[in-house]
Amino acid sequence: MLQRTSLVALLAAVAVAGVYWWLSAPVVAAAANAPAHVPDLANGEVMFNAGGCASCHAVPNQPDRLRLGGGVAIKSPFGTFYAPNISPDPNDGIGKWTDADFVNAVMHGVSPAGQHYFPAFPYTSYQHARREDVLDLFAYLKTLPAVAGKVRDHDVGFPFDIRRNIGIWKFLFMDGKPLVADGSKSPQWNRGAYLVNSFGHCAECHSPRNALGGIITGQRFAGAPNPEGEGWVPNITQKRLGEWSAKDLANFLKTGELPDGDSVGGAMTRVIKNTSQLPDQDLAAMAEYLKSLPPVDGPTPPKRKQAS
Ligand code: HEC
Ligand code: HEC
Repeated sequence: MLQRTSLVALLAAVAVAGVYWWLSAPVVAAAANAPAHVPDLANGEVMFNAGGCASCHAVPNQPDRLRLGGGVAIKSPFGTFYAPNISPDPNDGIGKWTDADFVNAVMHGVSPAGQHYFPAFPYTSYQHARREDVLDLFAYLKTLPAVAGKVRDHDVGFPFDIRRNIGIWKFLFMDGKPLVADGSKSPQWNRGAYLVNSFGHCAECHSPRNALGGIITGQRFAGAPNPEGEGWVPNITQKRLGEWSAKDLANFLKTGELPDGDSVGGAMTRVIKNTSQLPDQDLAAMAEYLKSLPPVDGPTPPKRKQAS
């Protein structure tokens, strides 16, 4: 009897391991049948600024946001991540990467060696970008200065340091679907929806997450504790921004100025450094889309904070 029970347990364990292995396997796009693409550098620069790549990948404590040698520390409840060198340096950066390597990294969170990236790299949003925009961005990155030097390893404890486990996380929280345009809305609204939900990755900070670190879908954009520690990331649905006009929002993304004349602080200053470089019509598009978000109640911020 005992033998039989252990056999059943063993078979169950093998089955679980099999399912684990299957679900956690890195999935990438096939490179062979990819259509050829003529890169548009100006568009690549727009995607770079919308994506805020410099916020994490520019070398900290130096003025040039185009030196993408990495090294910024990104704190999270799971540990501290260090953004790597994505400059065109052939040895320490991504100078030797192919188009397919880059698409797989940005849109699928998978490295050239076939390993999962940690979602501190916000590919859960970037997955919704268009492949042509990702390739334009890659072409643009290649025009930036090569920076030598690799950054230190991440400081993440067990079991979060096991990259294979991220496959299960992706299965739970990454839908892999492209954004579908909404024909009932204006082209400007659709452009805004695209920029906010793909490269802009606004929801990554402005939404509460569950215990496993996945965004709580019903409270997308409804505010959250700051994942980096102190403070609160405000609700950006109409629950809080009802009084802002679309013009206020576009101006905010350009200058960091709030409608009451104050300047924004915290992590959002890094975001504004990037959005301030975007063309005015893209800022207007993002503002139109944000103004259309219905009011949603988010988690309650701690007392004495004015954010809601
Ligand atoms: C919030 C911070 C953050 C932002 C914003 C960000 N990244 Fe990253 N990125 C990371 C982290 C952290 C890693 C390392 C992930 C890992 O090791 O699993 C990474 C890894 C990468 C890699 C893989 C590099 C390698 O050596 O394997 C590439 C390529 C990359 N990012 C490109 C981009 C691009 C392009 C953008 C802008 C569209 C961007 N990142 C925006 C944090 C960020
Ligand atoms: C790295 C995290 C992060 C990302 C990404 C981010 N934000 Fe923020 N945002 C914040 C924080 C933190 C604040 C509050 C700053 C403060 O305390 O002054 C903020 C404030 C704001 C505010 C002001 C709200 C208010 O009532 O004061 C708006 C509007 C806003 N963000 C919009 C956006 C948009 C649009 C995007 C995407 C382009 C975005 N944010 C991306 C962290 C982020």
